[in-house]
Amino acid sequence: MRLHVACVFGFIFLIHYGEGKLWSKGVVHYAINKKDYDPHSQDMIVSALDRIEKEVCVKFFNTPLNYTATDSEKILYISNPEKRKTCPPEQYDYTGSVVDMPIGYKCLNEKDIARIIVDMLRASIEAPLTINSNDLLRKFQERNDNQPNILAASDRNFINAHYHEECSGLVRPQDRRRSNGGTMEVTPDNERFYKDKLWPLGIVMYGVNEFLHSTTEFATLQHAMSAIELSTCVVFQQVSEDGAIKPKNLLWFSDTGEEMPNLGFTAGNQTVTLMSMIHGAPGHSGHTLNLLLRILGVPMMSNRFDRDNYVTVNWRNVQKTKEHYLERMPAEAWLRNTEGEGAAYDYDSVTHAPANYMCNDCSLGAQTVQPIQDHLWQRTLTMGHRNDLSPADVELLNLLYNNQCQQRFINNN
Ligand SMILES: *[C@@H]1O[C@H](CO)[C@@H](O)[C@H](O)[C@H]1NC(C)=O
Ligand SMILES: *[C@@H]1O[C@H](CO)[C@@H](O)[C@H](O)[C@H]1NC(C)=O
Repeated sequence: MRLHVACVFGFIFLIHYGEGKLWSKGVVHYAINKKDYDPHSQDMIVSALDRIEKEVCVKFFNTPLNYTATDSEKILYISNPEKRKTCPPEQYDYTGSVVDMPIGYKCLNEKDIARIIVDMLRASIEAPLTINSNDLLRKFQERNDNQPNILAASDRNFINAHYHEECSGLVRPQDRRRSNGGTMEVTPDNERFYKDKLWPLGIVMYGVNEFLHSTTEFATLQHAMSAIELSTCVVFQQVSEDGAIKPKNLLWFSDTGEEMPNLGFTAGNQTVTLMSMIHGAPGHSGHTLNLLLRILGVPMMSNRFDRDNYVTVNWRNVQKTKEHYLERMPAEAWLRNTEGEGAAYDYDSVTHAPANYMCNDCSLGAQTVQPIQDHLWQRTLTMGHRNDLSPADVELLNLLYNNQCQQRFINNN
């Protein structure tokens, strides 16, 4: 156990660090078992988390089911395997990668959920700490609406005081050696990251239900595919619903299915709704292209590991359960040049989020993604408004797919 003396706002703290149980960076990644709770109950849980988030610095991020949790990046799993009704006091086990937090059916109300979450957070804090900074504690007591607090002051203060340091870790700027020079290259680290994400031979097979064939949405989708084909070596190849060729791996566009395609190659028949491909992110001009790049394995520019040097994410404005679309991705996802410098941050990339990306309510000009140092609002206005590939997008795709496309050319000869 480490002892650490911090001086915050002129008050002296004595902070004990436990065995690293605190939720890393003050973020609780959670998943709700959809089989145990109906949609209404899921909404209830999400809205309770939302309210709690307004009172503590800890954030709750809904997380895709295949999130790979580790001992240091744990996941909170909300389920009710025993179909229990009540919610007796729980022992929380922080030793593994999954922390179970059952919620019984009779406890599906804000008050009980809040109590359960407080217990869970308290269990993540090991050693007590003497709190005596009024400033720090007041920070989360100031409310700008008239809703009463859902947490007791003592719980709120306890959690905020212990998570104070951890919570500031979400936006720590990183390495920023940048350049426009040198030749970009794919390093072994990049290769490891992209290995399973690239479509073999640079070919994406796709199909669509017959009844969607003549929709403007499908035309828009194909138009975006052509734009990628024209400037890169990747091809999109349509299969017919009852065609002779039944590819093992394909994308299927339908009126039901996933709202967001997976990042990169996916084995089998991945069904995505056509509407969300076209209209899924209001305000993002390049949304369809961005999702096609996502399918090809390319993460968004605004998720770059060092993006906090360039944009600020206002987590409070982000729509509940969409947070993971704004989380940073590993450094290995971005290429460097031969001098080991990263490419310049590209506000112009078609994969850059617009200022209102995944916003809960930005009708009054609130922003989720806010450029740093944007004196003339220039970036705010252009970000996410490109509707073709930027030169850097083209360069990236061609570098990533170079080997796969080469294989295709060899096979054809
Ligand atoms: C994400 O989830 C889907 C299944 O929902 C899976 O096919 C895909 O491979 C997963 N992505 C990663 C990176 O594991
Ligand atoms: C892919 O799955 C969808 C349903 O999710 C189905 O309608 C479609 O026919 C399937 N396509 C192929 C080629 O198997």
